[in-house]
Amino acid sequence: MSTDSKTPTHKSVVIIGAGISGIIQGAEIHRKKVLRDPQEELVIFDKAGGFGGVWYANTYPGAACDIASHIYSISWFPKYDWSRRYSPQDEIRRYYEHVAHCYNLHKSTLFRHTVLSMHWDDAAVLWKVTVRNEETGTLHYYTAAAIISCIGQLNRPKRANIPGAETFSGPQFHTAEWDHSVELTGKRVAVIGTGPSAGQVIPSIADKVKSLHVYQRSPPHVLPRRDYAFSQPVKTLFAWVPLAQWLHHVWLYVDQELGAYRSVHVSSKENGFAAAAAQAHLEAQIPPRCQALREKLTPQYSFGCKRPLFLDDYYPAFLRDHVHLHTARLQRFTADAIATADGERHEIDVVIWATGFVTQDLLGHVDVRGHQGVALKEQWGDHASAYLGTSTHNFPNLFFVFGPATALLWGSLTFMFETQALWNVKMVQRIVAEARKGKRVGYAVKEERERKYNAEMQEKLKVLALSDPRCDSFYKNSKGVVTTNFPWRLAEYWRRCLRIEWANYDKWETKL
Ligand SMILES: Cc1cc2nc3c(=O)[nH]c(=O)nc-3n(C[C@H](O)[C@H](O)[C@H](O)COP(=O)(O)OP(=O)(O)OC[C@H]3O[C@@H](n4cnc5c(N)ncnc54)[C@H](O)[C@@H]3O)c2cc1C
Ligand SMILES: NC(=O)c1ccc[n+]([C@@H]2O[C@H](COP(=O)([O-])OP(=O)(O)OC[C@H]3O[C@@H](n4cnc5c(N)ncnc54)[C@H](OP(=O)(O)O)[C@@H]3O)[C@@H](O)[C@H]2O)c1
Repeated sequence: MSTDSKTPTHKSVVIIGAGISGIIQGAEIHRKKVLRDPQEELVIFDKAGGFGGVWYANTYPGAACDIASHIYSISWFPKYDWSRRYSPQDEIRRYYEHVAHCYNLHKSTLFRHTVLSMHWDDAAVLWKVTVRNEETGTLHYYTAAAIISCIGQLNRPKRANIPGAETFSGPQFHTAEWDHSVELTGKRVAVIGTGPSAGQVIPSIADKVKSLHVYQRSPPHVLPRRDYAFSQPVKTLFAWVPLAQWLHHVWLYVDQELGAYRSVHVSSKENGFAAAAAQAHLEAQIPPRCQALREKLTPQYSFGCKRPLFLDDYYPAFLRDHVHLHTARLQRFTADAIATADGERHEIDVVIWATGFVTQDLLGHVDVRGHQGVALKEQWGDHASAYLGTSTHNFPNLFFVFGPATALLWGSLTFMFETQALWNVKMVQRIVAEARKGKRVGYAVKEERERKYNAEMQEKLKVLALSDPRCDSFYKNSKGVVTTNFPWRLAEYWRRCLRIEWANYDKWETKL
């Protein structure tokens, strides 16, 4: 690896990640005219090759959204002609790429650039950032007044640790790294995992493969998808009558705030209704003669402990003779087969890992050091936390979009991203305004405020199905504590983010 000059390039704002969060954050900085010359003062790094984050990476067959398109898009950048209620992957990717281009973000973005380290300099009151150009291998150095981490929670693919996996001689790949050069037609294929990614892959490939072996550790709840295409008259209505689209938005929000939110509370009647609806969906699709299959597919934990699937073609896939659902523990791989703990051996040509992502070690792949050299990895341990998901103590001018405890089980993340981006803009506006007056300032939330917020949040999480000890999920850390999710209504998040209480922040200051 060659290394270029160590003379750093200075930027007012560095954004890490060009997924939905990074795009919304970058566009908001443009919209609010935070920087005089955004092209000069802002840089966005992404280790991937294009805009979209998970919607750029996940090209597996069947990849689509399960949040209604009209609220999975940006409220101030409506798209009138979404093709369906739940859009397919490439339509979402293209929409967000279009937003990025409209706000000239492509001129500030360096793709295939991975942020390796960020070190806060207490004396200089700025960040020192090291970035690797993945094409040339060169290291580049930057300084920044503020960093906004938009690194996402679901983009570091994780495979299960099964003995002998490296000895398997056929192709194997993760759903988020789909190898389109591998032809599945007529092949004996293994899908490991039955989460939302597997749920979309299984029915999409079942028709073409010779045999499909699905390895399930715990069954998901599955609800009817209720998807539909928007007709041309509806698209025209949305385009010509903004009030109609606005009312549609409002209805979608109210539905998620009132219905979906209650459904993930363990003792609520809505939780009971949702579990019953999932059971009815299973029983409607798997006939009584397949009682053993029904039992295998029935979850033994509260609805909402894991992310439910919204699919009409998932259960029917298991009724086909060549699709096999295995529930015995995966024991080992050989060159051409998988053995399970019940003594069976299945001959396989291709393995698809639908085993999810590294989620708990948020920012763990970056060497982040804050005030007095504190390592973020050590401060967080296995419980990443941040006040309102946007700032953590000891790390001045480091802000997050989709940071700790901001994931949702019932609503649209874009609402959270928009709210966080606005909050971060207010922080950056102050930092930039002070710089124009000749002062470099840093703000990090006070430890006590962050702790109080987290304690309140953990109390609320206890009544959500997410905390059900009968299920394990990527929302929980090694102690079974939910660290990734926001537990209140979206309106509550919005209320808490209305105004920055500057007294909650420690301040760093130096003359420029
Ligand atoms: C297959 C799939 C389907 C999903 N479907 C839904 C859905 O239907 N509804 C829903 O609400 N949510 C869904 N999600 C969740 C999804 O993660 C969020 O909705 C949203 O897209 C996250 O956007 P993001 O920009 O925060 O993160 P990401 O999309 O993960 O983008 C983060 C970006 O940061 C980059 N990055 C990370 N580390 C570095 C680094 N060190 N240096 C440089 N760049 C870096 C990554 O390359 C990536 O491009 C889905 C997730 C997956 C994986
Ligand atoms: N729009 C959508 O519909 C959609 C589609 C894809 C992804 N997503 C989002 O992305 C997130 C991740 O989804 P994902 O499906 O990629 O990952 P996931 O939800 O983490 O599911 C991973 C699956 O792999 C299984 N698994 C993990 N390790 C295993 C092992 N050692 N042996 C056997 N099975 C193992 C898990 O079983 P256990 O359940 O027992 O742990 C689970 O079924 C979702 O929660 C959702 O937020 C959404």
